[in-house]
Amino acid sequence: MAIDNRIDQKKLPKHVAVIMDGNGRWAKQRGKLRTFGHNKGVKAVRETVECAAEMGIEHLTLYAFSTENWNRPQREINALMTLLVKTINKETKTLNDNNIRLNAIGDLKSLPKSCLKELNEAIENTKGNTRMTLTLALSYSSRWELVEAVKTIAINVKTGKLDVDSIDESVVDDHLCTLGIPDPELLIRTSGEQRISNFLLWQIAYAELYFTDKLWPDFDRHDFEAAIIDYQGRERRFGKISEQVSA
Ligand code: FPP
Repeated sequence: MAIDNRIDQKKLPKHVAVIMDGNGRWAKQRGKLRTFGHNKGVKAVRETVECAAEMGIEHLTLYAFSTENWNRPQREINALMTLLVKTINKETKTLNDNNIRLNAIGDLKSLPKSCLKELNEAIENTKGNTRMTLTLALSYSSRWELVEAVKTIAINVKTGKLDVDSIDESVVDDHLCTLGIPDPELLIRTSGEQRISNFLLWQIAYAELYFTDKLWPDFDRHDFEAAIIDYQGRERRFGKISEQVSA
């Protein structure tokens, strides 16, 4: 499908991150179980991935399951994990057909074995793809990631592999799950909530934030395009003044 002609291909963000929110409310509004909303959310995932790839976005990261989501009712967790396995299994061919590489970040060893197996297979089967990297954040939270990074850095200092004085931003970057992925320039959150919810806290230091009232199952390619158009209309100053940026 043609990309909205208001989008400037030369000013695309390299990395867009998305907090997919509102599946439960979407289902509740229809008198259905929350899992019905998650099932419908898969269509929005597919449409967003397709649109981002067609547009030329290099990295798309989706917050699919947070560390805190383990506190949900066991039935909902099981349904989400089953949905994840089913979706990954079903979509691997489409990812390959569209030259999209699958990646995952988070405490992956805490995922059910079947889920991890399916995920690892899909990651392996798509590793040669180059058009876009789709990263699923699974059992992910930023504070967990930062604690893990601090632990590894501390061990490296203790064992003499790293000098304390050499620790800078790039050393921290190198110990995050997002190693090798540029920081997101744009973070989208659906469902009207205006929070970050422990997602990529370090990496979004300079990201533009875009909030939409749309619930995730209703989010479509036009909403994704609207977010990009809004992003392209913003002036990103990185602490400088407007005149310096335009010079
Ligand atoms: C947030 O809605 C959504 C999730 C926690 C799960 C997202 C999962 C999917 C869209 C399905 C499959 C995903 C992939 C990548 C295959 P919520 O449950 O927090 O909604 P609420 O805030 O209205 O309760």
